[in-house]
Amino acid sequence: MSNCSQTESNCGSNQTHDDVKNYYGKHLSNTKDLKTSACAAPAKPLPKHIKDALSEIHEDITSRYFGCGLTVPQCLESCRILDLGSGSGRDCYILSKLVGPMGHVTGIDMTDEQLELSRKYIDYHTQKFGYQQTNVDFTKGYIENLKGANLQDETFNVVVSNCVINLSPDKKAVLSEVYRVLKYGGEMFFSDMYINKTLSEELKKNKMVWGEGIGGALLWKDLFQFAEEIGFSPPRLVTSRYITFNKELQDVVGDYKLVSATFRLFKVPKCAKKEKCLAIYKGGVTGYENEIQFDANFSFKEGQAVEVDEELHRILKSSRFAEHFTFHPLEKGSGSIKDIISDPFQLAN
Ligand SMILES: C[S@@+](CC[C@H](N)C(=O)[O-])C[C@H]1O[C@@H](n2cnc3c(N)ncnc32)[C@H](O)[C@@H]1O
Repeated sequence: MSNCSQTESNCGSNQTHDDVKNYYGKHLSNTKDLKTSACAAPAKPLPKHIKDALSEIHEDITSRYFGCGLTVPQCLESCRILDLGSGSGRDCYILSKLVGPMGHVTGIDMTDEQLELSRKYIDYHTQKFGYQQTNVDFTKGYIENLKGANLQDETFNVVVSNCVINLSPDKKAVLSEVYRVLKYGGEMFFSDMYINKTLSEELKKNKMVWGEGIGGALLWKDLFQFAEEIGFSPPRLVTSRYITFNKELQDVVGDYKLVSATFRLFKVPKCAKKEKCLAIYKGGVTGYENEIQFDANFSFKEGQAVEVDEELHRILKSSRFAEHFTFHPLEKGSGSIKDIISDPFQLAN
């Protein structure tokens, strides 16, 4: 699978890809056709700058949104961003607004109908945002093989993805490719569906169950294992909420439970030191001037010292957040280890 080339004849021969293309290209015509609550309002209210950007997106695009979370991290000005499984392009256009004219957003998707729709509104949004030229493109390809779509090593600051990795038959290949195309200090910020126990083989083969994102939903511990094997820092849980099903799907799925969770994974330089410290937010991130919520466990008020674990220290220091923080050593013997929530079911509860 991870060796598949980008041509229709090679990659298109994968049955899962064909079924998913059919589901998103032909079967679903708008958000309301989904059989789960995945696309319902996000776990938290949208920050104002994101709400404003969303209000500028064309309705044809927003009405075909099939995501399950908010894949818009903070601190995006001038970033180069890649969106895996960009669909109608809703998130790409929000990000296009937020990165500004010096940034760039690439969406990649394998389904012709989705690509056609997303590309149709490039000029509309370029004008709407007042840009001289577009900062978005949509490319055809498979997220398991970004090389085949000509996406080079270490070229993106941020990779996002909204409810797509569960649809992939080879999630480790996807995450490995993300690691390859990210710059050091870069991050993957993604929302996806997680299941509470391994699904039966019979249900995995059900096309509706797979198409709705349940058949391929990961166990959250598998995400942590893949991240470690590939070289990412341990995933940081951001938000989580339970997903409900309509009657038709509930009858098929039975007592399995699913959450939609957002995680952030960083590609931290190997040499970065590992030590706990006090981190102080200097402010200055657009939309989060007074406080920045980094994940479910850590929030930073401007000017207030927060004790952070070794991994978070490494992440903040080597990423685009570094210029917005100062770091101070902990006094010997001081500090207590904070319990970190990583289980999205625990957070959703
Ligand atoms: C659930 S929809 C989400 C679309 C979009 N992210 C959104 O939030 O509206 C999944 C999208 O991922 C695309 N997709 C699924 N598997 C893919 C793969 N292996 N390679 C490329 N695109 C894929 C589908 O074509 C579809 O457009």
